Amino acid sequence: MGKLDGKVAVITGAASGISKATAIYMARQGAKVVAWDLGLDVEGKPLENNPVDETVAIIKEEGNEAIAFKGDVADMGDAENAIGTAIDTYGKLDILCCIAGFLRERMVFNMSEEEWDAILRVHVKGTFAPSKFAAIHWRQKREFGSHIAFSSPAYLGGSGQSNYSAAKAANVGFVRSFAQGMVRYNVNSNAISPAAATRMNDRGLGVQEAVRRGEALPSVTGWDSGNSRDPFNIPPMITYLTSDEGHWVSGRTWAVEGFHYARFSEPEPIRHLYSDGMWDLDRLFKLFPETLGEGLELPEGRTADSVTQQGAQRLAADQKKDS
Ligand SMILES: NC(=O)c1ccc[n+]([C@@H]2O[C@H](COP(=O)([O-])OP(=O)(O)OC[C@H]3O[C@@H](n4cnc5c(N)ncnc54)[C@H](O)[C@@H]3O)[C@@H](O)[C@H]2O)c1
Repeated sequence: MGKLDGKVAVITGAASGISKATAIYMARQGAKVVAWDLGLDVEGKPLENNPVDETVAIIKEEGNEAIAFKGDVADMGDAENAIGTAIDTYGKLDILCCIAGFLRERMVFNMSEEEWDAILRVHVKGTFAPSKFAAIHWRQKREFGSHIAFSSPAYLGGSGQSNYSAAKAANVGFVRSFAQGMVRYNVNSNAISPAAATRMNDRGLGVQEAVRRGEALPSVTGWDSGNSRDPFNIPPMITYLTSDEGHWVSGRTWAVEGFHYARFSEPEPIRHLYSDGMWDLDRLFKLFPETLGEGLELPEGRTADSVTQQGAQRLAADQKKDS
């Protein structure tokens, strides 16, 4: 007995990495899989051949069921067709995993509009578009729906990743909203913040040096290795959250990193300051450090001295102006 027997799953990004492992794993658990990919490299440029056929071939060789869907996750027409393919082929849709994406990393002062737009498009619209058509189906059926969107540790902030961090934080907000709106139609929704060795880790100076020394790429050494970097460490958590047993869990974000799984806290206001009427600026400046700022750590690279110095300089300048 598989944990997903009888379920139909659409999985985006299934040609590579975490999503490929998820498609193979969920099919082993009894899901019929629509493996959806556009066949892009890690920066979003088209590959000569779309490797999603290979994912489907692996699933079928293992005696499980899958078909490929080749299309763009952020295209509304492709998204409607992909969900329609699941319904036409397997009669319904139970599970949607929005995993596809790519990277364009750059410091914010060097980032082009195109780099910003491309990342927001693939990760945020590429989650919205399939989710919309899945939601239409689930709203009509009101039986069972399970939705997964992909975030990243970068949603907590990553230098040189302002586009990606913004997109991955957006997906956390999307999941909270989707979970609230769809609960009445018997749909749950969760966000995954993963870590695994894939093409996305084949970058960086350290890796380039290792390759020059003749070492294999992380995506090669990690794949199906059984170690903590293996992408097959991610789908067990996705399988729980999309199963009948895990269906009560919704609206949450999960760190799913190798041999370690964790639940993120939900953000809430923790320090408060009130005013009886319109804010008095001098009062705010005076009270901020001991109220809203209480316990706040300085940003990395800044010292109490440097901050106090700036404040002291401004105070001295103000006093000079006033005298
Ligand atoms: N690998 C990690 O450690 C890590 C960390 C944090 C977040 N993530 C996230 O996990 C997800 C999977 O990443 P991965 O590391 O397996 O990457 P990957 O590059 O191995 O796979 C991504 C897949 O998405 C597909 N894709 C990209 N744009 C598409 C589009 N417009 N339409 C259809 N398919 C498209 C690609 O063709 C590729 O097959 C991504 O959302 C990524 O941001 C990964």
